[in-house]
Amino acid sequence: MDRNYLLQLPYHLDLPFSEASFQLTREHLICPRDRALSDTYNRQVWLASRPTAIPHAEHFGIREVEIPNIAEGEILVRNQYLSVDPAMRGWIADPRGYLPQVKVGDTMRAFAVGEVLMSRNPDYVVGEMLMGIFGWQEYAAVAADAVLLRVKERDLPCSLALGALGLNGITAYFGLLEVGCPESGQTVAVSTAAGAVGSIVGQIANIKGCKTVGFTGGPAKVRQCLDEFGYEAAIDYKSTNDIDGAIASVAPGGVDVYFDNTSGPVSDAVMRHINIGARVVICGTAAYPSWNPWNTGPRPERHLIVKRARMQGFLATDFSDRFNEAAAQLANWIREGRLRYREDILEGLENAPGALQRLYSGQNDGKLLIRLAAAG
Ligand SMILES: NC(=O)c1ccc[n+]([C@@H]2O[C@H](COP(=O)([O-])OP(=O)(O)OC[C@H]3O[C@@H](n4cnc5c(N)ncnc54)[C@H](OP(=O)(O)O)[C@@H]3O)[C@@H](O)[C@H]2O)c1
Repeated sequence: MDRNYLLQLPYHLDLPFSEASFQLTREHLICPRDRALSDTYNRQVWLASRPTAIPHAEHFGIREVEIPNIAEGEILVRNQYLSVDPAMRGWIADPRGYLPQVKVGDTMRAFAVGEVLMSRNPDYVVGEMLMGIFGWQEYAAVAADAVLLRVKERDLPCSLALGALGLNGITAYFGLLEVGCPESGQTVAVSTAAGAVGSIVGQIANIKGCKTVGFTGGPAKVRQCLDEFGYEAAIDYKSTNDIDGAIASVAPGGVDVYFDNTSGPVSDAVMRHINIGARVVICGTAAYPSWNPWNTGPRPERHLIVKRARMQGFLATDFSDRFNEAAAQLANWIREGRLRYREDILEGLENAPGALQRLYSGQNDGKLLIRLAAAG
């Protein structure tokens, strides 16, 4: 059978199906695009070429393969939501990253949340919802080391396991509390303040009694920072040509914790305002234009010496043995109405290839996700 075409199952025709009575003809073959749900095939987004800067839709392809069999110890997960994360750009482009580069031809590595359909691993039961590295695809046959979190907060939407209760929330939680070590009354500054990580950093800082200053792109996101995420001040770095002056006016007492998601000009400016003993938390480098040539720019060392400050990078996975603790606390804050979140959900796998470009142009309005048919 031509793999590019699929059998149009009788339920599309509202007829009872019996193999004996059903004869396959060319009329029963339809283009995959016309089909809402796959029962026997797995659609995957794969890396078609390696970008040197921001990945665009043309760097990916969509293909269909058979749903894989699972080996002893593996599980078959049917994905409901796929995550779109800035880190995915690094997984493709950064040859010196913390994970091996995704190879051209491979299914794109991604976090996803889905339901266990089959299990040959006694630790996982059919019907359980899991979050893990399941890839940009409909079905994933994976070993236990791909699973990052069991979705325990079943009263809340499972999509949150990729955002506020997933890597984004957990990153915010440990990055701020364990690396930034904020104290009540101190000033916490955050770049990408309206984003999936940044919006939660700002709110946790508020919960801990800190004053918060956010940096974000555009007036709509500035309003979100002030009205939804409780920042005391928000600076639109895209329309300000004097970031230095803007920081001085909203944080005259200086910055005690800087949660840095971008590097670049915003961070260069913040460094001139850090206080003695400040903690600079290096979480992301969204402002890096590319990894080749390697980025250079203003040198922060002098500020660190003069202010006896600490700058420390971290990965959320450094705290993987405490993920459940963070997810449970974040969920309680959501239930109590103390933690708000925004999701920007694109419908269907075909939207995944262009999603990283959307993220890096700042068009995302909250946690960027792809919803698949299995989510219902
Ligand atoms: N260390 C870790 O373990 C870890 C884990 C998760 C995420 N992260 C990092 O956390 C950061 C935020 O991730 P997220 O998932 O929450 O994404 P996000 O903030 O929801 O979305 C990315 C945002 O980055 C900003 N941006 C894009 N290009 C930029 C540029 N050239 N200069 C300045 N800002 C730019 C845009 O916000 P504006 O519209 O406001 O410009 C965009 O909305 C990323 O750097 C990511 O790599 C780190």
